Amino acid sequence: MLLIALALLAAYLLGSIPTALWVGRAFFNLADIREHGSGNAGATNTFRVLGKKAGSFVLLVDAFKGFAAAWFLPNLLLSQGLIQPENLFYYRLACGVLAVVGHIYPVLAQFRGGKGVATILGMMLAIAPATVGVALLVFLVVLGTTRYVSLSSMTAGVTFAFLQLLPAFRPANSLQVWFGFLLALMLIYTHRANIGRLRAGTESRVPLWGKR
Ligand code: G3P
Repeated sequence: MLLIALALLAAYLLGSIPTALWVGRAFFNLADIREHGSGNAGATNTFRVLGKKAGSFVLLVDAFKGFAAAWFLPNLLLSQGLIQPENLFYYRLACGVLAVVGHIYPVLAQFRGGKGVATILGMMLAIAPATVGVALLVFLVVLGTTRYVSLSSMTAGVTFAFLQLLPAFRPANSLQVWFGFLLALMLIYTHRANIGRLRAGTESRVPLWGKR
């Protein structure tokens, strides 16, 4: 029981790693990326403030946090005989969600983290890769037509949730559908400032073929 609790704590701590903040400090002498650009400690703002290489790195690490929490930690528990195979799915969900919560509210960065997009992506890649594939396609189409990352992220999140209602994407366990909607709602909540800017017409667009 103690080891299971430690694994859940590890999932939260893994998500808590403030990649954007630490990359800014370690490689760009930037004290706090949250004081620049959109003020978000996430991949999009890293692209915006620190450029393509740093943004790509943060995107990969933040996604990996979600994937590692939802994939490796439960597998480790299973391989040690600490959980039953029939419960593996529940631990994937729990560890993934804890990593997402850690990313949004990181204990390692005054509880002011990112918006959860990359970490949810990684978590869901571990749980429902085919559904993520279609949601990613939607993300790219919305990004290509509007150039708003925030709108693309929210649309992809909501698409993911609704896709699961279709027979082709319906998960074996209906709990996943509920979590899909919960995560979509969480994304809308974390993007509330972006929604305000989108409504006001002041949200920044990404230069698709820019130099950075
Ligand atoms: O990475 C989150 C993205 O959807 C929006 O980020 O920096 O434009 O608020 P940002």
